[in-house]
Amino acid sequence: MRTRIVPAYSQLARCYDLALGRASFAHLRRLFEALALRYGLRFRSAADVGCGTGLFARYLAQSRGVPVFAVDRAAAMVSVARRRCAGARVRVLAQDLRALALPRPVDLVTANFDVVNHLTTLHDLAQAFRRIAVNLAPGGHFVFDAITDCDPLGGRSRYVRPLPGGIVQEIRWDPLTRTLQGSALFRQGQARAERHVERAHSLLEVGHALRDAGFAIRGVHDAATGAAARTCPPRVAIVAREAGRRAARSRGGAECT
Ligand SMILES: C[S@@+](CC[C@H](N)C(=O)[O-])C[C@H]1O[C@@H](n2cnc3c(N)ncnc32)[C@H](O)[C@@H]1O
Repeated sequence: MRTRIVPAYSQLARCYDLALGRASFAHLRRLFEALALRYGLRFRSAADVGCGTGLFARYLAQSRGVPVFAVDRAAAMVSVARRRCAGARVRVLAQDLRALALPRPVDLVTANFDVVNHLTTLHDLAQAFRRIAVNLAPGGHFVFDAITDCDPLGGRSRYVRPLPGGIVQEIRWDPLTRTLQGSALFRQGQARAERHVERAHSLLEVGHALRDAGFAIRGVHDAATGAAARTCPPRVAIVAREAGRRAARSRGGAECT
């Protein structure tokens, strides 16, 4: 039987939490709380971009009692997030974060579990960071994780693993193009597969894109342990503060106006 290729997350959305979301959420929540404590993060509003099924957006709203925007571009993820967040102070928006336009600026933006790696060119990464900066209140924080180009698959160039829900996940790492080519194969019913392409950004690239967008970096942490990153871990968690576009311009050199 032929395998039908379907758009990314169109099929995975239904069983995303069972397959990946819940386990990763448990870790993300602990990591976020450790960073929030360490950096004294206080916020009266927030947005979780690339929100997926809305677990983290709902957590932010319920744990802090603040309004939260949950943003994703995949229609199937947006539907699950809408159901998940019904009754919570969460407004789910179908948007691409490269054109992020929140109804009003927020004090905190989060992007969890590889969201920024789905931006597969430096142009897209820079554009998304600029839009996030514009949608933050002055001095607001951006907290996100990212896979780096430092051995992202732990010494392997490929792995295949079964996931709950009858899914087989395969990921290949190509160090030349710095891409992670993922696929999720759904074996129940008619065989379907999704392709997921991610780019492993270098820490330098992420740092430049943040600064150009007007962010000051407050901390870079090993996302696995939460410890401050001393080398280059495979996945980092970064805390950045909106420092004003004037600051970004002045770092670019003198301007004639
Ligand atoms: C691996 S999932 C992570 C979901 C969620 N943040 C979590 O922690 O489980 C990546 C999500 O990012 C979304 N995404 C990827 N690129 C995006 C973009 N340019 N704009 C908005 N959402 C995007 C995908 O649709 C998907 O829901």
